[in-house]
Amino acid sequence: MHSPPQNPHDLSRHDLPGILATIEDEVRARFDAREGKVADYIPALASVPRERFGMAIATLDGDVYSVGDAQVPFSIQSISKVHTLTLALDAAGDALWKRVGREPSGDPFNSLVQLEHECGIPRNPFINAGALVVADVLLSHYDDPEAALLAFMRERSGNAEVGRDEEIWTSERRSGYRNIALANFIRSFGNIENEVDAVLDLYFFQCALRMNCVDLARSVRYLAGRGVCPGTGTRVTSIERSTRINAVMMTCGTYDAAGEFAFHVGLPAKSGVGGGIVAVVPNVLSLCVWSPPLDDKGNSLLGAYALHRFTRMTGLSVF
Ligand code: DON
Repeated sequence: MHSPPQNPHDLSRHDLPGILATIEDEVRARFDAREGKVADYIPALASVPRERFGMAIATLDGDVYSVGDAQVPFSIQSISKVHTLTLALDAAGDALWKRVGREPSGDPFNSLVQLEHECGIPRNPFINAGALVVADVLLSHYDDPEAALLAFMRERSGNAEVGRDEEIWTSERRSGYRNIALANFIRSFGNIENEVDAVLDLYFFQCALRMNCVDLARSVRYLAGRGVCPGTGTRVTSIERSTRINAVMMTCGTYDAAGEFAFHVGLPAKSGVGGGIVAVVPNVLSLCVWSPPLDDKGNSLLGAYALHRFTRMTGLSVF
């Protein structure tokens, strides 16, 4: 059942609703093991029920398939780093890469240690340090970066209701000691130009956005479409940038588990501690999965399993 066809890129050869239903059954059968831990270092995240599971696929032909809790909004957290990177590359161009690298860090997403030796240049835009520099770029470029990001998210997802979760926002603002330390540390090297509080406000805002799996799968469709959002035909970013964002997602999107993720899933992906993961099959589709319990690297445990099953059943890994 569901063995990959010869040409996996031809979606007419896949029973995508059937594949999603099989994955949901397999994932729900694993709930009993109670593996993984729902993030609680942001106190408001701790109350999300661990048995939530949703998954959505958005194809370049404009079809959307979903299963389970795919319409239930959750805190997107670090998934937002993909969208802010897209906007910042647009704003700053390749000069952005002088302020943030594109190597995997091999360290936890909220680590401070490399910054001291590397003079405040974060290893990549997806660790917290890198995302703070990206937020700084947006602050320098936009009069109202929150409004710009919100408009981008609403337009990309096609959901005008996307907004900030006040409780998560307040909770993270109160307890974001590491991010506050990171932002100040980077500023001490001169790699943050704006007021640290303004950078943190924007960063906490992006992390506190609430979206569901369908919204998120749609929101990264331009990365499957070589920078173009199918349906509207809007060019969101250049082919080159979309290719490179996918490359950085592949190597850095799941932090110090990126090697394992490439090995088991084989897709550019970005996780968030709310339990969501977005992934891209270039030229074919984008997808999002949500399951709150995390592994020790901060990636959704069953979300990674679901994506592994997806690429095994469809043959749609990039390798
Ligand atoms: O800054 C933090 O720690 C969170 N707002 C986001 C971290 C996150 O989602 C890491 N992803 N797996």
